[in-house]
Amino acid sequence: MAVHQNGRMLADIVEYLICPVCHADLRLGESALRCARGHSYDVARQGYVSLLVGSRPPGTADSAAMVEARARFLAAGHYAPLTRAVAEEVRRHTSARNVPTKHEPSTETDDGEELKAYRGAGVHAGNGMGPQGPSRDPEIVEDRRAEGWAAPLIVDAGAGTGHYLVAALDAVNDGIGMAFDVSKHAVRRAARAHPRAGAFVADVWRPLPIRDGVADVVIDVFAPRNGPEFGRILRPDGVVVVVTPAGTHLSPLVEELGLLSVDEEKELRVARSMEGFAETGRRSVEFEMELGHGDVAQVVGMGPSAWHTDEAELDERIAGYLSRTVGKSSGKVVTHAAFHLSTFELASRARSVS
Ligand SMILES: C[S@@+](CC[C@H](N)C(=O)[O-])C[C@H]1O[C@@H](n2cnc3c(N)ncnc32)[C@H](O)[C@@H]1O
Ligand SMILES: [Zn+2]
Repeated sequence: MAVHQNGRMLADIVEYLICPVCHADLRLGESALRCARGHSYDVARQGYVSLLVGSRPPGTADSAAMVEARARFLAAGHYAPLTRAVAEEVRRHTSARNVPTKHEPSTETDDGEELKAYRGAGVHAGNGMGPQGPSRDPEIVEDRRAEGWAAPLIVDAGAGTGHYLVAALDAVNDGIGMAFDVSKHAVRRAARAHPRAGAFVADVWRPLPIRDGVADVVIDVFAPRNGPEFGRILRPDGVVVVVTPAGTHLSPLVEELGLLSVDEEKELRVARSMEGFAETGRRSVEFEMELGHGDVAQVVGMGPSAWHTDEAELDERIAGYLSRTVGKSSGKVVTHAAFHLSTFELASRARSVS
């Protein structure tokens, strides 16, 4: 049953969680997380836990159809360059603080060669997998814990299906992940996304059910940002990786289909939301995508225009645009993808980019 499949993961993660009502530690029981005061949060059949208390915020959770569109679009690899860029950023920051807290343990490979078992360095002794290998070796991790090490914790806020968290965890061999989203449709998928990730329903605008100072990296990709809360849960040397769409994102689809465009104040709003942080890195990620009718419908269906567009009418508009534009042989239109990828560190310890 899913609860048990996920039980091992929840057991790893629960030490970082706090009760959303009274902020006491949570413990994993038979099929629920509980605090000492008796607040209890069931582990759903699909393996996620809702830590949302009070009412759901109106209108911001992705619907089942939006989540489905996003899952399909991302699975097709259209955003692969962005996915790689996010994973690389996370790997860079976790390996930058890849220093053992006590001493460097080492492990013997079968042929007797000694390998350093650094946290997240992509050196994975004994199982023959490279840095992108999909699993961590529980024995190595247990050894490291015994030595006083903890696995890097990566928190994805507004994680959707967990797509970027998965890529980050694959890039950080022994990292563990938490996906938070207010949409239960999204969280259901995120709960199955990676063996080293747990998934939770929570509202990023409210206090996060996470202990102070435990996250190595917070990922926020096109999702609401709660700067003060990110600052609270982050380790002093942690980073927040923020991705936002740039002005030319989805050009010329936006103009051709009459979609919502990126607001010009976006950069300013990002900076404001991250008060208390310094932007220590910024890069553009841009590439072209070849999209067929279904891909276009998905990229519109997973974005903000989905809230305002009638499906049948959109379908007509897409068909019209494709028939005007498409190369007859490919049946696809070329669409521009453009993002800003920024890293933020706590202002008290960082020197920002100008
Ligand atoms: C544009 S999607 C991005 C999802 C994911 N980061 C990705 O890029 O694949 C925004 C996500 O934020 C979630 N979301 C919106 N408001 C939220 C809130 N207040 N707290 C947590 N998640 C929220 C939505 O449900 C949705 O899954
Ligand atoms: Zn409690």
